[in-house]
Amino acid sequence: MNNDFKDIMQNRKSIRHYDSSVKISRDELLEIINESISAPSACNLQSWYFVIVDTPEGKEKLHNFLMPFNYPQVDTAPATIMVFGNTKSYLKYRDLWNGMVEEKKVTPEARDAAVNTFLPLYEKADRQMLVADAMVDASLVSMQLMLVAREHGYETNPMAGYDASKAAAEFGLDPEQYIPVMAISIGKPDPSEVVPDTVRYDVKDVTEFA
Ligand SMILES: Cc1cc2nc3c(=O)[nH]c(=O)nc-3n(C[C@H](O)[C@H](O)[C@H](O)COP(=O)(O)O)c2cc1C
Repeated sequence: MNNDFKDIMQNRKSIRHYDSSVKISRDELLEIINESISAPSACNLQSWYFVIVDTPEGKEKLHNFLMPFNYPQVDTAPATIMVFGNTKSYLKYRDLWNGMVEEKKVTPEARDAAVNTFLPLYEKADRQMLVADAMVDASLVSMQLMLVAREHGYETNPMAGYDASKAAAEFGLDPEQYIPVMAISIGKPDPSEVVPDTVRYDVKDVTEFA
């Protein structure tokens, strides 16, 4: 395990060829996701959903909608995690707050205040807002997932090079509800992989004070 946050963040690089002899157990993959879902989300709606692809059948499905330049990642990685935004997460919102009341984490009055303030926003929202919110939540959890993966000693590659219209249905999910946000391959790098030293624009080019 790596607890050096600076190293975890600064030395994260997209890895496109993995050592396919290194497997990741389903327990550990679930642990990685469990650690990642501490990410913040709008109104704590947690509008994310994961499909962990770690079987040959699942990988075949990825081939049906990923662009071919992403095949090396998914073919060599022990797992690829499809991260979806869930546009109907608000339907479970009452359950979340009821659970918090049962666990005595909030009072019934605090639950009612939160639910009555936030839930109508989503019940009345148009699709564009629901999709945008879900994509932001799922993006935040994706970043967290890539950092947690490094904490566990693995590398990743976020991928959005795919036919988004096909992703949900390929895994039997309702495409209206689940919006693909990215696929994340995860594993140990192939030792012969040459990792490009990607650069960033100068901070002053992308920032201003107001
Ligand atoms: C939303 C998103 C989509 C991306 N899609 C792909 C992709 O389809 N294939 C790929 O090889 N890399 C993809 N990348 C990785 C970027 O190319 C990479 O993050 C960028 O070049 C910076 O390199 P680094 O991650 O090594 O720092 C994607 C990254 C993001 C955030």
